[in-house]
Amino acid sequence: MPHLLSLIREDVATVLERDPAAKSHLEVYLCYSGLHAVWFYRMNHWLWNHNFLLLARWLSQVARWLTGIEIHPGAQVGRRLFIDHGMGVVIGETAIVGEDVTLYQGVTLGGTGKEQGKRHPTLLDNVVVGGGAKILGNITVGHNCRIGAGSVVLRSVPDNSTVVGVPGHIILREGKRVVITDPKQINDPLSAALSAVATEVNKLKERVRQLEGTGGSEPASESLQRIIEDRDDQI
Ligand SMILES: CC(C)(COP(=O)(O)OP(=O)(O)OC[C@H]1O[C@@H](n2cnc3c(N)ncnc32)[C@H](O)[C@@H]1OP(=O)(O)O)[C@@H](O)C(=O)NCCC(=O)NCCS
Repeated sequence: MPHLLSLIREDVATVLERDPAAKSHLEVYLCYSGLHAVWFYRMNHWLWNHNFLLLARWLSQVARWLTGIEIHPGAQVGRRLFIDHGMGVVIGETAIVGEDVTLYQGVTLGGTGKEQGKRHPTLLDNVVVGGGAKILGNITVGHNCRIGAGSVVLRSVPDNSTVVGVPGHIILREGKRVVITDPKQINDPLSAALSAVATEVNKLKERVRQLEGTGGSEPASESLQRIIEDRDDQI
């Protein structure tokens, strides 16, 4: 375990690296409530692990009053977490946050209210979560994922994906645009409906040709074919 002071220096260096608005070490020490919240959390997590449960919870509330950021002392948070702006961020008791994660203001790593035990999300390394995004339930957001501002993510997300919307769906995976998302991975209701309609239209076209007696099956139009293939290809 690195020395406390070196962890603090590392946190400050992280802010200077990730926030172009940060101008000096002194400014970061004084003005970044996200950092203050993380430092409070580290102390509270130690107290929590040494069974000072109520003291840890109370101090986490003090940190919330001072910073607007609520990190439950039982959560597991990796190194170099950067909470930018911060107000309204909530990290639940069983959440796990990997290393080099960035959270913007208003992010919730919360429960759905339906689960017991591990009921908050796990974020793997290098995840960036945009302002106001809600990630709910015992799901995993893979390495290097980006969650768009305002998204509501309810299903696990594979590595190297960008997710946007409500409910959150993948728009980019491994650098490639995803047109239709596999409903088993992370549902995109519009894409699922579109691909179902495309398949039905194709079947109807074939049926009409049979009834007209024109025989043989005409290939689907290019755009229909693309939608059907995209559905079969994705992820
Ligand atoms: C999700 C995000 C990372 C995507 O960035 P990107 O890879 O550059 O993607 P693009 O801007 O090219 O957008 C790709 C598509 O997703 C859509 N999109 C992007 N962000 C979105 C969001 N938050 N919600 C819904 N749709 C979004 C775009 O409209 C675009 O759709 P289109 O291709 O149909 O026009 C980024 O838009 C985002 O939300 N970042 C969070 C930033 C933030 O919270 N900052 C707070 C600073 S205080």
